[in-house]
Amino acid sequence: MSVLLTGIGELTTNSDELGILSDAALVIDGTHVAWIGPAASAPAADTAVSLDGRAVLPGWVDSHTHLVFAGDRTAEFGARMAGEPYRAGGIAVTVGATRAASDSELSAVLERHIAEAVSQGTTYIETKTGYGLDVPNELRSARLAGAYADAVTFLGAHLVPQGWDADSYVDLVCGPMLDAVAPHVQWIDVFCETGAFDASQSRAVLTAGAARGLGLRVHGNQLDYGPGVRLAVELGAASVDHCTYLTKSDVDDLASSETVATLLPACDLSTRQPLPDAQALLNAGATVALASNCNPGSSYTTSMAYCVATAVLQMKMSVAEAVRAATWGGARALRRENEIGILTPGARADIHVLNAPSITHLAYRPGVPLTHSVWRAGTRAR
Ligand code: NIG
Repeated sequence: MSVLLTGIGELTTNSDELGILSDAALVIDGTHVAWIGPAASAPAADTAVSLDGRAVLPGWVDSHTHLVFAGDRTAEFGARMAGEPYRAGGIAVTVGATRAASDSELSAVLERHIAEAVSQGTTYIETKTGYGLDVPNELRSARLAGAYADAVTFLGAHLVPQGWDADSYVDLVCGPMLDAVAPHVQWIDVFCETGAFDASQSRAVLTAGAARGLGLRVHGNQLDYGPGVRLAVELGAASVDHCTYLTKSDVDDLASSETVATLLPACDLSTRQPLPDAQALLNAGATVALASNCNPGSSYTTSMAYCVATAVLQMKMSVAEAVRAATWGGARALRRENEIGILTPGARADIHVLNAPSITHLAYRPGVPLTHSVWRAGTRAR
């Protein structure tokens, strides 16, 4: 089944930097993009959809979420807005609720949030374990996540659970927990931060994951300056996420590496942290991604458009830079940049149509639901 999209106002392809085309048309064939070119020479297809001048871009690639959870932390958010600082210890509240939830309750949470994301233009979504923190609950989280998300990350090293000392818990994560979870995930992650795991514990977790063939991701430099970025670069992690507190040497390390700096501005706003210095990263030549970090504690939003608007309005990224970071950048952070986050022949047909003539409207009209329609792997999802 092929579909011809015509009447495209502005087509963002990411084929070469942003690769914006006008007067273009696009053909979806099955799950993939079959053709892109001038509207005047578009081939015939089984059906044609006229977009009446709307902008088309790749679907958002949300490369950082924590969607296997139960419970609610509204009270913690309220306290923060009244002046309390964000504390990583809040994770333990969600661990308690998640352990107490049934499989079907956790599945419903996953399904609901992924549907919410897709309805706003997200077409590829990573999610993590990390609210189980014992072998049965981390295994269960990984299995359930795999039924809904496109990519799953093992984050057993999210926090040291009550009743454990950090080194013994790291032994559990690197041993029996990893043995149980590894067959169900593609990635391993660690929260490398004061109050969570130090550099040597983080290194142990990442090294154990790499030995099992998992790709590496790091939560680093979220709440203060620290060793997370350095470690991620040294171990060749695909991405280091947060990057709120970066030294000049962290920026230089990222710029001279293949590690993506994934920025999570919705989290920084919700935790009243400063916003990361995206311009320093871009000017130095680092690859930047934007992601939602959707989780019930530090960033309870699935809206990639909100992240893009924030990046433009408050982090001084251009619209083009922010859109690229939320599509191609996320794909690069997941090492899938040849198939997703781009619209070129052969790419997965992950297509986001805006109720607006250009991507500039994403920042010009912040907070307005601009998603008109979505195709996910060639299937109309909205
Ligand atoms: O990415 N930094 C650690 N993990 C999550 C927070 C999760 C929570 O507070 O529940 C994050 O912000």
